[in-house]
Amino acid sequence: MYILAIETSCDDTGIAILKDNKIISNFLYSQIKEHKKYGGVIPEVASRVHLTHINTLIEKAMSNSQIKYSDLDYIAFTQGPGLVNTLQIGLITAKTLSQYLEIPLIPINHIEAHLYSSYIDKDIPSDLFKKKRLGVIVSGGHTEIVEINNFSYKIISKTSDDTIGECFDKVGKMLKLGYPGGPIIDSIYDANKTEINFKVSKLKDGKMSYSGLKSQVRREIDNKKYSKDVIASSFQKAAIEQILWNLNKIYSKDYKEVLVAGGVSANSLLRKELSKIGDNILFPELKYCKDNAAMIGNLAYIKITLEKEENANLNIDSFPRNKWN
Ligand code: KG4
Ligand code: ZN
Repeated sequence: MYILAIETSCDDTGIAILKDNKIISNFLYSQIKEHKKYGGVIPEVASRVHLTHINTLIEKAMSNSQIKYSDLDYIAFTQGPGLVNTLQIGLITAKTLSQYLEIPLIPINHIEAHLYSSYIDKDIPSDLFKKKRLGVIVSGGHTEIVEINNFSYKIISKTSDDTIGECFDKVGKMLKLGYPGGPIIDSIYDANKTEINFKVSKLKDGKMSYSGLKSQVRREIDNKKYSKDVIASSFQKAAIEQILWNLNKIYSKDYKEVLVAGGVSANSLLRKELSKIGDNILFPELKYCKDNAAMIGNLAYIKITLEKEENANLNIDSFPRNKWN
């Protein structure tokens, strides 16, 4: 089965072609350059850049995969959550292709696709929807731990204010390190430079919080006592500790696997520390951590083979935060 997948939920134009869940082409135009000067994503700019690149990326992906359009069996696209105008570009492109080629459209939830990205290019476990798993979603728009049970999701822990990715980016901005702050802070992180003991929230009922940590960083910058490296490294340590503390409370061997997902799952310290919890903690390959179309195609494959979705609802979900179920 050949799937062409399209991702346009925010600032990355992604096109992938899969043979089952094996990636044969994966192209991404990342818009960091266009949004850098604003220090964040500008939706109108994002839409224009998607429009400029989407068709060329489809052509590139098709010629790279050496298949014909008539070989395609499904078109998968990101239905949401995301920016309304950028989602529409993906939807219209997907709909046009599916109508012209007379093949089905598979709408995919972006956050759900992140969750299963550890399985891209790997064999899909046959007990995937029989055994309970945990999902740890750490991205720019979401920070939550969910229980996964046969395609339904129960939130067990969630941030009540900023997300972890947002916090990395805001701290990067405060320290004038550049945009996006997450990968830059990670690259300068030094375990020997974590002498500031930023306080980590230890709240009840699975609540996580990042706004207090952000304010503590602001105060340290204003105090001018420590170097940027020390503040950034100490911040990263505390930001990761928040996830660790909450996951440790929830983790049990009853969960077959823990699927870590989203842009921040690329973080080196998060990968190192979470791996210590158990040998069933899975991370996506680095290239599949941030937004990409491979994960959209991968979940489409899982749904086509395991869930058989008929009469799929094709309305886009333009709310920036995900609503499960
Ligand atoms: O999942 P994603 O690509 O987009 C959303 O759906 O939000 O996540 C983007 C977020 C950004 O906040 C970025 O700074 C963060 O992921 N990020 C990282 C790292 N790489 C990306 N944060 C910490 N360490 C990293 N290595
Ligand atoms: Zn994402």
